[in-house]
Amino acid sequence: MTRNHAPFLADLAAAYERHAPQSAALNERALHYLIDGGSHSVRLKEPFPPRIVSARGAWLQDEDGHHILDFWQGHLANILGHNPQVVTSVLADAFQNRHGLQLGMTDRLQVEAAEIICRQTGQERVRFTTSGSLATMYAILLARAFTGRNLVLKVGGGWHGAQPWGLKGVRYKTGDSGGYQHTESAGIPATVTDEVLVTRYNDSDQLRDQFARHGDRISCFLVEPFIGGGGLMPAAPEFLQTARELTHQCGALLIHDEVISGFRFRAGDVSALYGVKPDLLTLGKIIGGGMPVAAVAGRMDIMELAGREKGNQVKFFGGTYSGHTSSFIAAKAMLTHLVQHEKEIYPALSENGERMRQIVVAAFKEQGIYACCTGGGNEVVPGSSLWMVHFPHREDVRLDTPEKVFDPAVCDTVLNHQVMDLGLLLENVHVMGGHGAISVAHTEKDLEVFNQACRSLAHRVCQYLK
Ligand SMILES: Cc1ncc(COP(=O)(O)O)c(C=O)c1O
Repeated sequence: MTRNHAPFLADLAAAYERHAPQSAALNERALHYLIDGGSHSVRLKEPFPPRIVSARGAWLQDEDGHHILDFWQGHLANILGHNPQVVTSVLADAFQNRHGLQLGMTDRLQVEAAEIICRQTGQERVRFTTSGSLATMYAILLARAFTGRNLVLKVGGGWHGAQPWGLKGVRYKTGDSGGYQHTESAGIPATVTDEVLVTRYNDSDQLRDQFARHGDRISCFLVEPFIGGGGLMPAAPEFLQTARELTHQCGALLIHDEVISGFRFRAGDVSALYGVKPDLLTLGKIIGGGMPVAAVAGRMDIMELAGREKGNQVKFFGGTYSGHTSSFIAAKAMLTHLVQHEKEIYPALSENGERMRQIVVAAFKEQGIYACCTGGGNEVVPGSSLWMVHFPHREDVRLDTPEKVFDPAVCDTVLNHQVMDLGLLLENVHVMGGHGAISVAHTEKDLEVFNQACRSLAHRVCQYLK
């Protein structure tokens, strides 16, 4: 599978440039001022991203006037679609009648949001911040301070944000020294690189081995119960249970990073579905209702290290904009809505997520190409609202670890991601790196639009692969 896809991808890029001349022109302008034309690497598609002028529900409009069906949904935060009325109405009211911009003080909204999070996750205390990256960083600081140990164990393919301990073992490297044992960013203190151990997702034997060798020096095991950037797959129940037992035995903390999975499968953490309670839980994305809110929730005896009585040992200060008024107006509205409508929202998301996955697989099958989608569930987790497409794919490999998802011998991810992204944009459908999420705002008609777009894309790919 060493075919050179460059000419095919260049053709797609050229077609997209003709399709979106205003976005292309804005990109030229952006490159004069912004690194790569923007401020989040993932969003800066090549050759250029569509520049958006409005967003509502399932749909976007770009500078070129295209109506684009969106499955990226606010970087996977917008479970109710873009700008849902349940959030915008309370924000509008606050801006009109009270306050909305930075207050730099505190109010009842944070209390109410924290109450909901504690009630729905069974955790004892919460502290808020503004991004998932900060939440996982603070959680690690708490774990290191609590245990007095340095090592952080994480899984290969686990993305926990751009913070020092998160920047090892994120992207799969091929070749002899490949895998997930490398650091992603220059500029990180060497000690951090040495302090992060990387183990394989869903591999309990390797986890036992890590704890047998380093157990008395491990401060925490940081893991997503449903891995996001590593390929959208649920943890095997036995893996999480093993993690819980080993961390207990070795005096390490278990941190579940639920920045993606929190409030996505139920109105609370997905950990609860596994019956595994982590010592610390990180949340982000959905809980902010479209505003920058993230949180660490956890055991009182650990969280209190950030508190006054313990001399603020861990400087979990949250940041100037933490607890921002507008953020908590949105967060409270979103959390309240998700709790109140849990019974309708989550089964619908799970069902429609499954339909999305089936649509993709069927569209490729029609053209004789084997594709599969991750994002489905297992014996404890219902399928998610998420899907990631893998094609052309080896039929005999079951995807359960990031190593398999990103192994070029199993699936051609380079072709896969770029073709999905650009090919679907030409059909006015937006996904990111071959993956996406359905929201409550997506209708039957939208699913049909997606179906037609996937069929056109699969036809295009088939013409190329033939
Ligand atoms: C599991 C997980 N943890 C942490 C983060 C970092 O969150 P943020 O982008 O809000 O900093 C992400 C971001 O996608 C994530 O998926």
